[in-house]
Amino acid sequence: MTAEPLEIHLTEPELARQLRRDVRLGLTARPKWLPPRWFYDARGSALFEEITRLPEYYPTRTERAILAAHAAEIARLTDAKTLIELGSGSSDKTRLLLDALYAGGGLGTFVPLDVSTSALARSTELIATDYPGVRVRGIVGDFSRHLDRLPAGGGRLVAFLGGTIGNLVPAERADFLRDMRAALAVGDWLLLGADLVKDPGLLVPAYDDAAGVTAEFNRNVLHVINRELGGDFDPAGFDHVAVWDAERRWIEMRLRARRAMRVRIRDLDLTVAFTDGEQVRTEISAKFRPADLPAELTAAGFVPRAGWTDPDRLFSVTLAQVGADQPARLAVREGE
Ligand code: AVJ
Repeated sequence: MTAEPLEIHLTEPELARQLRRDVRLGLTARPKWLPPRWFYDARGSALFEEITRLPEYYPTRTERAILAAHAAEIARLTDAKTLIELGSGSSDKTRLLLDALYAGGGLGTFVPLDVSTSALARSTELIATDYPGVRVRGIVGDFSRHLDRLPAGGGRLVAFLGGTIGNLVPAERADFLRDMRAALAVGDWLLLGADLVKDPGLLVPAYDDAAGVTAEFNRNVLHVINRELGGDFDPAGFDHVAVWDAERRWIEMRLRARRAMRVRIRDLDLTVAFTDGEQVRTEISAKFRPADLPAELTAAGFVPRAGWTDPDRLFSVTLAQVGADQPARLAVREGE
């Protein structure tokens, strides 16, 4: 079997425009920031894969164990005909879900959505070969903007795994969940993987590993700006910083200038000054208490149906279903 041609909702010129806009906005703001999506060029994606195998980085292997233990139950509860995966990347953990749904015989379509055309092209072909009879429709798009492009039809299960929802600040998360609810129909399902609040002694090393892979991943955004926008960043001039914000319950990654410097970004006709020690925020990775996501899902119109964690309560997987539409309020009460 071969996959269907990719549906492209995000073109290279559009991506280039978004990068320019983000870099100009973020590097002229105070404090400076850069959004995490630009980590993931080919090198950044390879570094992230390496992160997922680090001893300190527990999320990937823990989520995989949770899915391995409960995929059959997820398949039974949802009986999904269509599996949609947001930010699918290599679709590696998704195979646990695909296997379970496929075994039940009901799986008709798999729809991975990702910003990377190259990653999708590879993963859709591999999956089409391994699951004969399943339609594989890859969508090149952005999980925060292209939810309205998901295929229609009942029996849908959307998987958003890996803890990527933690990249959104609370207001963005609420918007995302509401948009997700709006894109789905009553009875459809959402499966969310999310990292849990825990001892900072475990959390911080997961984002500041001894081998320095996360530091290199963090600095990769500077390589991307240099290549794509004609920047002259010296990536070695920036230290990797990972801090736990206990109040907001998120890990914040930053790049800290090792000295005062000026950086020229040719394609933006922009020169950016850094003071010695100045920090650029590059990512937040929010962590959740067990009751947080069920509450946020409920507020967005979902009904939490099940939740799983690992024996050490490091990571969570939550299954929710789109609830019945709110009954319209009667405009006029009888007898009035
Ligand atoms: C891909 C967003 C889930 O937040 O743990 C890993 C990205 N950043 N190490 C995460 C990441 C630094 C990762 N997510």
